[in-house]
Amino acid sequence: LKENKFGVSIDRALALYKKAELSKHLDVFGLDYHIGSQITEVSPFIEALEKALELISQLKAEGIKMSHIDIGGGVGIAYNEEKTINIEKYIQSVLDKVGDLEVILEPGRAIVGNAGIFVTQVEYLKQSGVKSFAIIDGAMNDLQRPSLYGSYHQAIAVEDNSKGIKDTWDLVGPICETGDFLAKDRELTLAQGDYIALMSAGAYGFVLSSNYNSRPRVAEVMVSGSDHALVRKRETVGSLFENEFIFNNEIN
Ligand SMILES: Cc1ncc(COP(=O)(O)O)c(C=O)c1O
Repeated sequence: LKENKFGVSIDRALALYKKAELSKHLDVFGLDYHIGSQITEVSPFIEALEKALELISQLKAEGIKMSHIDIGGGVGIAYNEEKTINIEKYIQSVLDKVGDLEVILEPGRAIVGNAGIFVTQVEYLKQSGVKSFAIIDGAMNDLQRPSLYGSYHQAIAVEDNSKGIKDTWDLVGPICETGDFLAKDRELTLAQGDYIALMSAGAYGFVLSSNYNSRPRVAEVMVSGSDHALVRKRETVGSLFENEFIFNNEIN
């Protein structure tokens, strides 16, 4: 973490708190930290909490009293049936230790990650003999995680298609980058026109999307039980240019 751009090391924290306490412009009352993302076990949270509580008692000995602790660190979700944190056990282990400090949590993707899917359609199938590609209409601009950091999202055919071709497919988008893929080596039965759902796209999905390759961003549809509603309309090619001006237009 010392090579990481975020925060300050715990060794420097005591001195910084003492400095802050002397400032008439600052009101020192909390300790906040973030230990990383997609954490799938309770133990790192508890180890960090124990260190933080130790710092809080050192601060107390210096006359600096903390009233809240922010035990940041993103709670992991299952992208591919991995085991992750039992939230009840996690909260109970925290509450057992924090005494009367106010606790702030930053669970991150655990709130919405598994609540969203990205639906895309197969445009073409290409089997080279060495590799089989399903070229889909979704791309790295829509769901950046696989190409950005090799993340895994389950890919599920929306409807069973027994007329399709069973193979091991790479799902690739139409963008002019070799790294434009959403999933690799997936056993699926596919035909042109089929819909595929990329699962767990509710966090770092749409918010990481871009207009790269002049691609309008997708519509967002919210589903509740058997109801659904459009909550963000699909962008158009026209809307991509609506904030642009022609250079020196007023002169011509
Ligand atoms: C300060 C802070 N808290 C919480 C989170 C959420 O974590 P996650 O990436 O697991 O969603 C992040 C994410 O980077 C963060 O920077």
